[in-house]
Amino acid sequence: MKYMSGKELRRRYLDFFVKNGHLELPSASLIPKDDPSLLMIGAGMAPFKAYFTGKMTPPRTRITTSQRCVRTGDIENVGRTARHHTYFEMLGNFSFGDYFKYDAIKWAWEFLTGELELPKDKLWATIYPDDDEAYKIWTTETDINPEHIVKLEDNFWEIGTGPCGPDSEIFIDLGEERGCGSPTCGVGCDCDRYLEIWNLVFTQYDRTEDGKYNPLVHKNIDTGCGLERLASVLQNKPSNFETDLMFPIIEYASKVANKEYGKDKETDISLKVIADHARSISFMV
Ligand code: GLY
Repeated sequence: MKYMSGKELRRRYLDFFVKNGHLELPSASLIPKDDPSLLMIGAGMAPFKAYFTGKMTPPRTRITTSQRCVRTGDIENVGRTARHHTYFEMLGNFSFGDYFKYDAIKWAWEFLTGELELPKDKLWATIYPDDDEAYKIWTTETDINPEHIVKLEDNFWEIGTGPCGPDSEIFIDLGEERGCGSPTCGVGCDCDRYLEIWNLVFTQYDRTEDGKYNPLVHKNIDTGCGLERLASVLQNKPSNFETDLMFPIIEYASKVANKEYGKDKETDISLKVIADHARSISFMV
């Protein structure tokens, strides 16, 4: 695993998927277009809902982006965990009726272990319990430790109404010292030991306003890989806030407020909240 700046990581991801036939598009605005179910764009797939459902034709059936996102569901955790913020960039590769689980899983593994050289023995994958196809691909097309594949009931992803489906998430074990120490701590635990770095969504349903899940005309891929989270791994930082994507704001705020970072827990939380909210507000404006 080698050090990589946030900027380099973003570029490496997009280039990898361009090399694999994807069209790179710029981030869409944070303000959703024609989607009354969302106040803000909170995922890389959100601007592309009409491509998934077939209502609109995409410029290409494979697209890759680094999408600016605002998610407020975790706002109370900001600054208190290593990984939550309201503003983040979501790296994503999307297939609109083109490739499906096989390539999505294979490419994710290739990017993480080949391009980024993440240690294979530290990686885990979760799948939806009855997704035998994903299990088979993970065990035959990658060299993940089969004991590191976990079936989780809540592996189903959706945001507002529209395209959604079962997913397969990739985690990295950051070590016991980052964990909560509970005997039941494992993948899916809320503590900071097992960090979810990538979510591969097998988008095959269209959720209606009255909660029905109608099958989509074609199967799709939507993935979400948190830029700041992955940067924290590659930069070997204790949290996303210490990465080069966020730390300069903390340094600036700490100078302005005349408060030293790293001395007092409550001060650190405040500085992290300022860094996060400053990014959110800037991009919302
Ligand atoms: N769209 C997948 C994710 O945001 O996790």
